[in-house]
Amino acid sequence: MRLQKLQVRSVMAETPDTVFIELGGPQPSGRVDYQPGQYLTVKIPHASGTIFRCYSVSTSPYEGLPPAILVRRVEDGLGSNWIADNLKAGATIEVLPAAGAFVPADLNRDFLLYAGGSGITPVLSILKSALIRGSGKVRLVYANRAAEYVARGQEIDAWVKRYPERLSVVHWLDAERGFPSVSDLADMGSGFAGADCFICGPEPYMRAAETAAKDIGVAEDRCHLELFELGAGETESVAPSGEMVSMTVDIGGSLIDVECGRDEHLLDCMLREGLNAPNSCRAGNCAACMCELVEGNVNLGENSVLDEDDIADGWVLACRSKPESEKLTVKFP
Ligand code: FES
Repeated sequence: MRLQKLQVRSVMAETPDTVFIELGGPQPSGRVDYQPGQYLTVKIPHASGTIFRCYSVSTSPYEGLPPAILVRRVEDGLGSNWIADNLKAGATIEVLPAAGAFVPADLNRDFLLYAGGSGITPVLSILKSALIRGSGKVRLVYANRAAEYVARGQEIDAWVKRYPERLSVVHWLDAERGFPSVSDLADMGSGFAGADCFICGPEPYMRAAETAAKDIGVAEDRCHLELFELGAGETESVAPSGEMVSMTVDIGGSLIDVECGRDEHLLDCMLREGLNAPNSCRAGNCAACMCELVEGNVNLGENSVLDEDDIADGWVLACRSKPESEKLTVKFP
């Protein structure tokens, strides 16, 4: 696995449920390569076993600053709570190379950016990159539950002061006005029909903002949702139609028996069966769904995280693996 060591420079409480973490350069030397809007997968030495979780980078690669991530505590989330409770300045963490396709193709365009809650993280990276490297106008629509949950508010104000002609920001607080409707979101994005649109936040917010962007006139192929956010917990899979095999899933201290289609990815089967299997990218890029193949064989498709040693040690990615035997057992850390 191509893990890179990074030093934790600082850990600061950002909002009641979010910590802001600045990461130093890799040890002993070098730097982190990433594009605006990408995420880092962090290796977390949790007491229940090593797990991997993805966190978007909030800095711009063009700022000349070390990368930083925002981590929001997820209720019962093993990774986010471990980080918020245990990670301290001076510690060393390991990360996989930056990944993700929530990246602008051309920074020299106008940008309409919709962020909800901690969805500000990759959006802020895109916003700053567009201002530093591009020449177009940028509108940020930023929705939060209440004022105390607005992450990076002072930083955003500073960017407005620095680029008053190009950057406009509209805040929305649910506590004052309720959840924004599609027409509210469209009103806040008006004038940006020709822009590239990037959306990140809770799923209902993303879907509403996507509809709003289309209503404004943003072209469908210019509208980008952070699917890494959508992937977590979303179940889109349909029941397989072909031959089935038996699979035992060892997860959270329980053994659960399910039937998995031969043409079905293991993760799709688990989610279809209602198992709370960890996942993020669903594309073999983040290692969040890494599990041990205890019994049977799988066909591990393309991925960018496991190397030959990992595979020899029995690790597979549930999102990329399909059954190749009648019986399988997989175990999550
Ligand atoms: S969910 Fe990211 S590698 Fe499987």
